[in-house]
Amino acid sequence: MSAIEPPVQRVWWKQPLDRAELLWIILALAWCLIMFFMMPYWHLYGKQDLGSEAYRMSPDDYAKLTEAMVTKYKVREEGGDQKVPVVHPPAGSDVYLIARLWSWYPILELESGKTYRLHLESMDYLHGFSLQPENINIEVVPGYDRVLTITPEHPGTYGLVCNEYCGIGHSTMTSRLYVVK
Ligand code: CUA
Repeated sequence: MSAIEPPVQRVWWKQPLDRAELLWIILALAWCLIMFFMMPYWHLYGKQDLGSEAYRMSPDDYAKLTEAMVTKYKVREEGGDQKVPVVHPPAGSDVYLIARLWSWYPILELESGKTYRLHLESMDYLHGFSLQPENINIEVVPGYDRVLTITPEHPGTYGLVCNEYCGIGHSTMTSRLYVVK
């Protein structure tokens, strides 16, 4: 039988089912079901779930909270022409990160083994919080304070890139996140 010519047996769908065929159907169905039930299972028991808290908050109010944290816990500045404050907030506290065209503000310095409530909000358009090399990828939306509960485990410098296309400067919208002992 070829795909071009009509089948020899016109009523091909009434042929008896071959055993191998049946086996494949059973295997494929079983695998579908396993994959399907992995979704709720992984949501409840997988360690990757960072929580799904979000609150309505105007960018102005959010910027005020961020600025208060920066004023209180700034430890140094980094960067060339455009200095960005590095902030070391107390372990276990609420930390705020602003996304906007086309930068992240401020640079956070967190302690390993401590749990933080990391807030994310955009001041303008949709951005994406993508932390490298961790597999964390969260949309950052204007008008919504998205809260992640995180416990950084390994000290080091993490890369932060915007992962939602946000215009001409999208590819330059990068930053860092420090995890110290
Ligand atoms: Cu911000 Cu892409």
